[in-house]
Amino acid sequence: MKIFSSRRGKATKITPVTKSSLKIWTKTQPVQFTNWIKSIGFDGKAGVTCLLPSKHGLLEHVLIGISEPLNIWDMGGLARNLPSGTYAFEGLDDSTEATIAALGWAFGAYRFDKYKKMAPQKTTLRWPAACDREYVERTIEATFLVRDLINTPAEDMGPSELEKISRILVKKYQAKLKVTRGNQLLAQKYPAIHAIGRASDDAPRLLDLTWGKTTHPKVTLVGKGVCFDTGGLDIKTASGMKLMKKDMGGAAHVLGIASMLMSAKVPVRLRVLIPTVENNISGNAIRPLDVVNTRNGKTIEIGHTDAEGRVILADALSEAAREKPCLIVDFATLTGAARVALGGELPALFTNDDDLAETILNAGKITQDPLWRMPLWSDYRRQIKGKTADLTNSAETGLAGAITAALFLQEFVEPIACWAHIDLMAWNATSRPGRPEGGEAMGIRAVYQAILEWTGQ
Ligand code: BES
Ligand code: MN
Ligand code: ZN
Repeated sequence: MKIFSSRRGKATKITPVTKSSLKIWTKTQPVQFTNWIKSIGFDGKAGVTCLLPSKHGLLEHVLIGISEPLNIWDMGGLARNLPSGTYAFEGLDDSTEATIAALGWAFGAYRFDKYKKMAPQKTTLRWPAACDREYVERTIEATFLVRDLINTPAEDMGPSELEKISRILVKKYQAKLKVTRGNQLLAQKYPAIHAIGRASDDAPRLLDLTWGKTTHPKVTLVGKGVCFDTGGLDIKTASGMKLMKKDMGGAAHVLGIASMLMSAKVPVRLRVLIPTVENNISGNAIRPLDVVNTRNGKTIEIGHTDAEGRVILADALSEAAREKPCLIVDFATLTGAARVALGGELPALFTNDDDLAETILNAGKITQDPLWRMPLWSDYRRQIKGKTADLTNSAETGLAGAITAALFLQEFVEPIACWAHIDLMAWNATSRPGRPEGGEAMGIRAVYQAILEWTGQ
């Protein structure tokens, strides 16, 4: 069953109400509604649903409590919890509100059913007339793509599958894909990606997608594509390793944003760089205190084989910066420290440009897709200095781990104008309405919006 329908015909109405608007609404309603609302104690609390019966005891109308202003997650429980049927929102005349409501409904309809038969979806929503339908469709497609890619087990989502997915996108939007794979990485001067990925049976690679006219402003997205992170020889604990199929979350995010930009035909010259590897263990695995060369010539001492993300991103960011695009944004499930600082639901934003910070944070507010800025505190740069190489990939203390990781990345983008780095969880630890446990897109609506603004659309 589809999430949305445009059919005419009967649909059960859903009226969004706040605590105060509920009082006004009930004044003009039949007695079976008002009595029912009173008897179950429904007061319009955000996210709470109230099913209203007809005189004959059949479902006639639905109320959904909402926040003021409307929050995207207020509608998150509807698609999966309402009785089967077609529904239509009432009173969402404002385009922003209608768009938010449609997104909230759709996000809640998601299921990852690739490996398990699940109860079929039994509800559809009549497209709210006022909503930006194309934006909603694009955003849902991208969000579900991100969730699906992250949720797919590493066995079925290795570097070669990420390449396949990229090829599908490339075909759909007439983009181009260049893949540098295995030993080609050495010949083409991506030594760091090779060093991290060489122990895996699925060869490491750099996916390089380009799209759009070269005359348009250049925007480059970079995503960490560690398809599984065992931690390498400094092996993770069982609990630390368990969720590490999600370590390609950054790659999933940039593919999601790319699909939004391409389907909307945004006039940018887009480049997506995904260094993708499996951080695995084998006889040729990289060892602690090995020294790795990088694309821009800076050498890295491997302080810890589990700090692999920044090492592969070093090569990709060097290549991104070489072209001097007007904007580089990278997404990476880079550190556990970001989660300690901000929790798993609020991605950490680092940027060397205050205007860009404002643009992204503001876009996050508008799209209800928040991020929080953290500092590129240059005093801590001493912590990432290497003893036998220019840099170390793991700072001595572990304090401010998200900051030292971001400072490490900064070494590979400077000197260029503007770069943003997003350190995120890409995972819902528990299920909440609209946000099922598992892979999650965090910041794609914000960054999509910020790209539009930054490039003057
Ligand atoms: N992929 C992990 C980071 C991670 C862990 C993100 C858990 C979200 C949840 C990354 O590769 C990693 O292992 N980082 C280490 C770095 C340390 C060894 C310097 C970390 O954060 O502990
Ligand atoms: Mn790691
Ligand atoms: Zn990792």
